[in-house]
Amino acid sequence: MTTFVRLGLTAALSACATDVPETPSFQLDVMPILAANCVRCHGEPRLIGPAGMRLDSYGDVPVDEAGPGPDDDVVVAGAASFAPLVASRIQSATRPMPPRFGLDEASADILIAWWGGRELGDPPPRGEPRLDNRPPEIAIVELGRDATTLTLRYDLHDPDGDLVAGYARLDGASGRLVGPLHAGRGELVLDLAGVIGTHAVVAYADDGAAVHELAAGAIDVGSP
Ligand code: HEC
Repeated sequence: MTTFVRLGLTAALSACATDVPETPSFQLDVMPILAANCVRCHGEPRLIGPAGMRLDSYGDVPVDEAGPGPDDDVVVAGAASFAPLVASRIQSATRPMPPRFGLDEASADILIAWWGGRELGDPPPRGEPRLDNRPPEIAIVELGRDATTLTLRYDLHDPDGDLVAGYARLDGASGRLVGPLHAGRGELVLDLAGVIGTHAVVAYADDGAAVHELAAGAIDVGSP
């Protein structure tokens, strides 16, 4: 019995070590590794890693740094933009990621294959998503408002259990940024300066396969 279990384990381990897909899929191969090893520090909200990088998202995510104006959004780069640095730090003998312990070899091999030796600014493709992938789902409720702000609570989850990340805007692609979204429950505080009337809230949620545009309800700020 014991021998049988040991043999099974050895077989499973060696299968992992050699089983690196030639063109890894971001959703199926890469995202679970980042979720398990990196996102607790390099996610949203950011715990202790450097600003300007979030590894819970394939793509770059806009953030509203300087308040309500539409033109001052800056970008937090996602995992694809950081692939060369990710590959370099997981292989670093002196400054490994995760800090001190590094990453197991099988996982590191997959991240390195995904990076594929590309230069910074040449993001690796997403690769094949899950065949029957289902889009994430979001529900937003208003928690409260005062004279200048509106507080919204959201619940963003994925029926397939994928890690989801993204952001929300008022009235679609060119609208005011409401804030960054992460998997699970979170809160957004919207500055109401210049916002009048009824506005749709649109969530751009990435489940690793694609960015899904989701209708997340509407807010009614009233007339001036
Ligand atoms: C315990 C928290 C923690 C975990 C877990 C962690 N990191 Fe980090 N990471 C940090 C901190 C703190 C820094 C900034 C200091 C430094 O560069 O060493 C950093 C820096 C980085 C940088 C450099 C970013 C830059 O702008 O130069 C990369 C790339 C990185 N991490 C990738 C990863 C990857 C990939 C994983 C998972 C395999 C991971 N990290 C897991 C805390 C963490």
